[in-house]
Amino acid sequence: MANKENWGSRVGLVLAMAGNAVGLGNFLRFPVQAVQNGGGTFIIPYLVCFLLMGIPLLFVEWSMGRFGGKFGDHSTPFILSNMAPKKQFLWKYVGVFGIFTNLAVAAYYCYLESWTLSYTWHSIAGSFQGQTAEGIANFFNNYVLNPGTEAYAFWIFCLVLNTYILSRGLSGGVEKVAKVGMPLLIVFGIFLAYKGLTVQAGVDGAIFSSSEGLNFLWAPTPGSSVWDPKIWVAAAGQIFFTLSVGMGSIQCYASYMRQRDDVALNAMSAGWMNGFVEVCLGAAIVIPISVGYFGIDWVIENTKNGGLGLGFRTLPYLFQQWGPVIALISGVFWFGLLFFAGITSSLAMGTPCMGFLQDEFKMSREKSAWTFGAAIFFLGLPTVLFFKYGVFDEYDYWAGTISLVVFALLEIILFAWIFGMEKGWKEITSYADIKVPVVFRFIIKWVTPTLLLFVFIGAFFKPVGNDWSAVLQGRWVLDDGSVVNTILNSGLHKKIAATTDGAQLEELNKQLTYINLSRMLLVAMFATVAAMVYIAYRKRVK
Ligand code: ALA
Repeated sequence: MANKENWGSRVGLVLAMAGNAVGLGNFLRFPVQAVQNGGGTFIIPYLVCFLLMGIPLLFVEWSMGRFGGKFGDHSTPFILSNMAPKKQFLWKYVGVFGIFTNLAVAAYYCYLESWTLSYTWHSIAGSFQGQTAEGIANFFNNYVLNPGTEAYAFWIFCLVLNTYILSRGLSGGVEKVAKVGMPLLIVFGIFLAYKGLTVQAGVDGAIFSSSEGLNFLWAPTPGSSVWDPKIWVAAAGQIFFTLSVGMGSIQCYASYMRQRDDVALNAMSAGWMNGFVEVCLGAAIVIPISVGYFGIDWVIENTKNGGLGLGFRTLPYLFQQWGPVIALISGVFWFGLLFFAGITSSLAMGTPCMGFLQDEFKMSREKSAWTFGAAIFFLGLPTVLFFKYGVFDEYDYWAGTISLVVFALLEIILFAWIFGMEKGWKEITSYADIKVPVVFRFIIKWVTPTLLLFVFIGAFFKPVGNDWSAVLQGRWVLDDGSVVNTILNSGLHKKIAATTDGAQLEELNKQLTYINLSRMLLVAMFATVAAMVYIAYRKRVK
């Protein structure tokens, strides 16, 4: 049962790749990152990271994928090992990241996706009509903190839907969804951005005009500095997440291209389409609308824990201020847009695992899809059951943030330094429909790896208060938000030590237990994939 699928058309491939990139991150994560990192100050590092890390990594991952496809490899373990000399046997285990990350991210991402589906349904059914702000906020809190039958039903439905589409294959499933979902998403986004940009003080209960929110997003916040390393780490993290680089899904999609297909222009098209959706549409909805009704200080305060609150608790209430018809349209468009953004990304997360099972264990496409579905059901269950103890966030942190940087750093070292830029450049430019600026050869070899190294060090060893000047003076005390102290749970231990209230203490201890258990689960998942790679390797040697 050789795995001989191909994309049906170029448009389909680019839309599927853009769909992979455009996700919940564009609409919920990006605006919040900008708010939390100095508004307009964030945009400069963001654009620099896009040009110096995002675009180069897109070139690298697309061409790695097409290269792998030549040998019939559709997942990173053997794509990577094929690019390294035979003796360097460890690269296939580095490639484990490219399956692990997708499984772990899909596990919590599909749950989030299912909320968007449920909220689309509630918007159609008019559940939010006439409700108070508090009522709508409580609905959401209840939904995620005490998931009931409805939350489970939508979640399972979402898993089954993803699995079914995957089982139909690339041209028969994924591509069709992208061709319908992406244009709809853009139409919905334009409508909402129009609504967002025309909020007027004094009209429909708005207190401020949306220009206040836009100014905040596009003008540097006084007191914030473009030289603050925290802002750079956040910008790099956003670029990774939004472009889906460092995940392994781009390599997998690209491995199903034909050898004479262009990678350079395709990679640029998908990358810039994602940038357009993020910067033009993503920035024009949640923040301008929320600022219009609540002001900037409230928005800053309420985005401290991420963008889910604004998207699910605040917007459905604010839509109601526009009258029942527009409220219905806006609700359906907003959550429908999030759903399409989500599903086109989660489908991409399914393919590396399927490609691996089909290539190495000779599974049929259907069987590999259902195996993936079952895996993310079991892996996702703790994120649903123990959401309130931070399991969901734990998955997002390790798989959705840290793994991406680690994998991207290692793969670019392999590509530029071990495979070598000579061959690498040829992979990027052969059959290219554009002339790739030769400066990228230098960037891929020197600039991207150096920046990645900085981000890596910045994340792992972040000093207290992000004060790097102290480090230069020889005082390097780790911050509780650094990866090292996160592993040690320092922040949580401090909270526990400072708590005297019995009930609160019990909750914190529970949180500690669940966090540790979820990490063990993630490690076990990584080890299982690594063991399967080893078995596959033994089979290949025979
Ligand atoms: N790239 C996807 C997103 O932005 C994962 O949500």
